[in-house]
Amino acid sequence: MTDRGPGAPVRVALLGCGTVGSEIVRLLTDQADDLAARVGAPVELVGVAVRRPHRHPDLPEGLVTTDAEGLVGSPDVDIVIEVIGGIEPARTLLLEALKGGKSVVTANKALLAEDGAALAEAADSSGADLYYEASVAGAIPLLRPLRESLVGDRITRVAGIVNGTTNFILSAMAASGAGYADALEEATRLGYAEADPSADVDGYDAASKAAILASLAFHTRVTAADVHCEGIRAVSAADIAAADGLDCTIKLLAICERLESGDGEPESVSARVYPAMIPKSHPLASVDGAFNAVFVEAEAAGQLMFYGQGAGGAPTASAVLGDLVAAARNIVIGGRGPRESTYASLPVRPIGAVSTRYHVSLEVADRAGVLAAVASAFAEHDVSIAAVRQYGGGRNGGAGGSGAVRLVVVTHAAPDSALATTVEALGDLDAVRGVESVLRVEDLGRSVSALGVTG
Ligand code: HSE
Repeated sequence: MTDRGPGAPVRVALLGCGTVGSEIVRLLTDQADDLAARVGAPVELVGVAVRRPHRHPDLPEGLVTTDAEGLVGSPDVDIVIEVIGGIEPARTLLLEALKGGKSVVTANKALLAEDGAALAEAADSSGADLYYEASVAGAIPLLRPLRESLVGDRITRVAGIVNGTTNFILSAMAASGAGYADALEEATRLGYAEADPSADVDGYDAASKAAILASLAFHTRVTAADVHCEGIRAVSAADIAAADGLDCTIKLLAICERLESGDGEPESVSARVYPAMIPKSHPLASVDGAFNAVFVEAEAAGQLMFYGQGAGGAPTASAVLGDLVAAARNIVIGGRGPRESTYASLPVRPIGAVSTRYHVSLEVADRAGVLAAVASAFAEHDVSIAAVRQYGGGRNGGAGGSGAVRLVVVTHAAPDSALATTVEALGDLDAVRGVESVLRVEDLGRSVSALGVTG
């Protein structure tokens, strides 16, 4: 970075100009005077790197280039904003920028979750800033509260809905009784789901965000590879109805928890993404459609909820602009933003050793002794049953009966590995015709009431 004269503009390069990038350009232009007043110097867009210039006829003349490397390396750039997404070329470009002392503002959750350490080290080595509020939950101010406002507290859990596409699909299934495929089709038709929805519906997008959240909340480096990830493809209309019967709803949750030591495990963190039943009384249960919401629990602050638009051009650009102003102010006053903090270096607990409760739905023979056999399978694997309900049956009961009934078992908290072996054992029982579904029940501090399941 060059020595700055008083009032010298802060010069900004933009990498990528899709839905988010074009909103950034609009805001930089429309709000130029306000931004200058807030930063203490004009904020000047000096270049926009795109792959296909002909698609951007509205961009100010002379700004567009296909030479992203040249733009990033230019001595006339102070801050690089990246909204290209994906790992490469974004990683190479941002490392180049940071090593050259240019501050970086990025929305790139996949890159941060895979290789955030390299970016943070490059920023540290040159003294540049690295801001990434837009990478998780779009417009919702969440990372700054975790990184700055709550840095004096001890965060115990961050659990949230951080993927709008899947929340739209699950909300549609709950509202209409539709199956997964029909709800996905509707989400695609309305533009909520992409043509290839895998990153969203298989949970990878949420897993990247969970890695970023866990790293900030627990001062520990957590990468996407550390996050246990299951998507929503297997959630059925029957699962949604079963949740409703328990006064629950199913949400794709990103859960980051601080786990105390015990049972041979050290104090650790857990970061996981999966669809789970949550009580309708929990504030996250009423977050519908494409909205995001994140529930944060900290020892002194108690419970906090962050809610808003987690995607889209303008909402994401809002978060980027907030970071841009922070980075620009630091340049003007000669300061630096917060560094990455990973001093705690807690281990990540493997999913097998993480305990939750489960809702297990079985099709079983309708005859005497079946319930005892099923209960034994749970007992043998040390999984404690909280409630059992049987649906249908009776007509073919007794020895030799040929009918089938549905049995729902809700467990107390048990390690994932114990539940997995229980399910295997259930599948081997003669009386069990099929394990129809296994869903986690995350009460998140509230009781799941309909079956009297309270602790
Ligand atoms: N595809 C994401 C979602 C938004 O559906 O919420 C970007 O992370």
